[in-house]
Amino acid sequence: MSKTCVDPKKVRKILDHYPEGDGTGLIHALQDIQAELGFVPCEAAELVSERLGVSISKVFSAATFYKAFSLEPKGDVVIRVCTGTACHIRGAQTLVDEVCETLGIKPGETTKDLGFTLETVNCVGACAMAPVVSLNGEYHGNVQPGSVTQKIRGKK
Ligand code: FES
Repeated sequence: MSKTCVDPKKVRKILDHYPEGDGTGLIHALQDIQAELGFVPCEAAELVSERLGVSISKVFSAATFYKAFSLEPKGDVVIRVCTGTACHIRGAQTLVDEVCETLGIKPGETTKDLGFTLETVNCVGACAMAPVVSLNGEYHGNVQPGSVTQKIRGKK
């Protein structure tokens, strides 16, 4: 099964933990689906709506409001470049441009082969190590131009 296909049984199994018609579980249900599938597919959103008795617009509203949720599948490697003030001053934009050029995507996009996703984030609280880049949550500080490309090549 491809990463973008959704197994309804898998989603229903997650939703079995939530009482039918109890809309108070909406955010938790979306969190569980995001954790299990890596994103919240449209089909899963529809199943959430049915199970919890919440309108589909409310489900999408919650799924798009919180940055923790993604309606699109993410790459196997999620690259997050901090573009907060300290990182910006120390060259974060150069790193963003480098990743964009290397992978042929823009911030917020995923490569067609679902290998990589590029995101920009605000301060991650490690300003002393600016500029900061994380690869699947593993932080790298004092990142120099060229080294992100090397790290990407190492993950291919
Ligand atoms: S601005 Fe990047 S870690 Fe603080």
